Amino acid sequence: MGSRVWLVTGASGGLGRALVGEVLGSGARVIATTRDGAPLRPLSAAFPERLRTVRVDITDAGTLRRVLDDAVAGFGRLDVVVNNAGYALAGPFEELDDTELRAQFEVNFFAAVNVLRAALPHLRAAKAGRVLQISSLAGQTGAAGMSAYTASKHALEGLSVSLAAELAPLGIRTTIVEPGAARTAFRANWASRLPAGAAHPDYLPVHDALARTAGGAGEQVGDPVRMARALVALADMPSPPLRLPLGSDALTGIENALGDQLEELRRFATLSASTDHPKAT
Ligand SMILES: NC(=O)c1ccc[n+]([C@@H]2O[C@H](COP(=O)([O-])OP(=O)(O)OC[C@H]3O[C@@H](n4cnc5c(N)ncnc54)[C@H](OP(=O)(O)O)[C@@H]3O)[C@@H](O)[C@H]2O)c1
Repeated sequence: MGSRVWLVTGASGGLGRALVGEVLGSGARVIATTRDGAPLRPLSAAFPERLRTVRVDITDAGTLRRVLDDAVAGFGRLDVVVNNAGYALAGPFEELDDTELRAQFEVNFFAAVNVLRAALPHLRAAKAGRVLQISSLAGQTGAAGMSAYTASKHALEGLSVSLAAELAPLGIRTTIVEPGAARTAFRANWASRLPAGAAHPDYLPVHDALARTAGGAGEQVGDPVRMARALVALADMPSPPLRLPLGSDALTGIENALGDQLEELRRFATLSASTDHPKAT
């Protein structure tokens, strides 16, 4: 049957490409989906037997299923599924175009759904496997100007928590991975799509904050290669966590958000509990 087989989406750059490199370096095999195979050619040339690059639009469920079934059949197994492809649509909510908002969900949420529908039958047949859902620090927090992106990642996390409960009894373990800012093209990509000015003067402060964050592209704390190594280690853990933040910024941001949420929950606990039916025990 050969070495383990990973499936990685969004493999042409950033975390995806770093992960493909680390997995191949570990001796395993990879099915890499991408819209553009060119950046993966050097790795394909170096590992012709262990890397299958699949050029596909992951938002097209029917085509994706067909090409993934073929790729899995070619390798004879599938072990680790990584839903990595994603981008951020930034801007104040009232200024977001509806078509762009839906496109954000098509890639960050529904494409992951398409991948899961194609991949899970293979993992269930083996009664084993790992699902790694690349969410974000933004999957547990929110920020002005990031409503579309945070909504898509919260949706991915909600799906994943319930999915994890369904898959664990079948021998398949799920981990939601929450990177903080990483030195990839991610920030430059969303920054390049920002409108020049605010459509509504009320949102000028949000635009200013987004422009300041965009200005920090290239100085992010996270190293995609080290993140990729953490994912390879994660896939080897006998008891992986449900959630794994990556980077000290993700760790601090999530810890603060959970602390604030718990403090607020307790502060209003009397009002929350006051709605119980008088006859409830
Ligand atoms: N970098 C960060 O600061 C950061 C922080 C938290 C979470 N994340 C998450 O980490 C994951 C990887 O991002 P990255 O940092 O590696 O960014 P990246 O360098 O921009 O790579 C993202 C990959 O996603 C795919 N992708 C982007 N837009 C797409 C679209 N419209 N349709 C289909 N595929 C698309 C692309 O793959 P192909 O071109 O190969 O198809 C691209 O290589 C994403 O899910 C992102 O949300 C990143």
